[in-house]
Amino acid sequence: MGRAEHERAVRFRTARRDPELTVVEGFHALKHALRFGAELVEAVAVDPGSLDEMAGDLAPDLAGQLADRVEPVDKETLAGLVPLVPHTGVVAIARRPRVDLEAALADPTPAPAVLLEQPRNMGNIGACIRVAAAANAAALITTGENDPWHPDAVRGAAGLQFALPVAAVEALPQSDRPLLAIDPEGEELAPERLPARAVLAFGTERHGLSSEVFERADARVSIPMREGVSSLNLATSVAIALFVMKMGAS
Ligand SMILES: C[S@@+](CC[C@H](N)C(=O)[O-])C[C@H]1O[C@@H](n2cnc3c(N)ncnc32)[C@H](O)[C@@H]1O
Repeated sequence: MGRAEHERAVRFRTARRDPELTVVEGFHALKHALRFGAELVEAVAVDPGSLDEMAGDLAPDLAGQLADRVEPVDKETLAGLVPLVPHTGVVAIARRPRVDLEAALADPTPAPAVLLEQPRNMGNIGACIRVAAAANAAALITTGENDPWHPDAVRGAAGLQFALPVAAVEALPQSDRPLLAIDPEGEELAPERLPARAVLAFGTERHGLSSEVFERADARVSIPMREGVSSLNLATSVAIALFVMKMGAS
């Protein structure tokens, strides 16, 4: 490996742990990142020209804008930059946007915010962010040690961290929004009884919500399930709750 390739590999490795940066892997994640205003620090691809062809088919709004921003690298170099090479052969370092969570939670627009308590699985975190972006949620907040901007979560969200305020917090933030504990033991979900600006709190994959959230919650709401099924997957629960609210509101 030459000196320039080595230095690039160090930059990509360092960016994975840098709280101001993230790594965006694959065409779809890059497409969403750019569409929602991401600032790229550097981007590389095996065949930059193919990105404009893909954009022509899949993202006409970005057609003609990609190849010029992406440096060509060979396959071996690309494999040294990320743990799993995306089949679309493009990876980038992007700057994380500054998130003003207080302002996002104070926003009077009738859209819920999502709180994930100590989510464990990066794929789940990404899937929750992706569906929260699709439902136009006000924000997605996580507690616990896992970073919702980690490149594995960015991959799982197809880059949609850039589409809404996404932030990790140490504790459940204060706001004027009602807090709903979304929990299998709650009262059956009825869209007309869900406040449009609620914070919807979801528990960790293994143990569910903490006693702190149950104590602070204004209501405890469940998604009905067939007898014998204990719970749904975290991201599935987030999707159902957000879209039941969305469809109920329209
Ligand atoms: C995999 S579940 C956690 C399972 C955990 N053993 C429990 O009993 O809560 C992760 C989170 O998804 C949400 N969830 C899963 N199934 C649900 C349901 N049927 N109704 C409401 N929330 C649900 C809850 O927020 C839960 O904390």
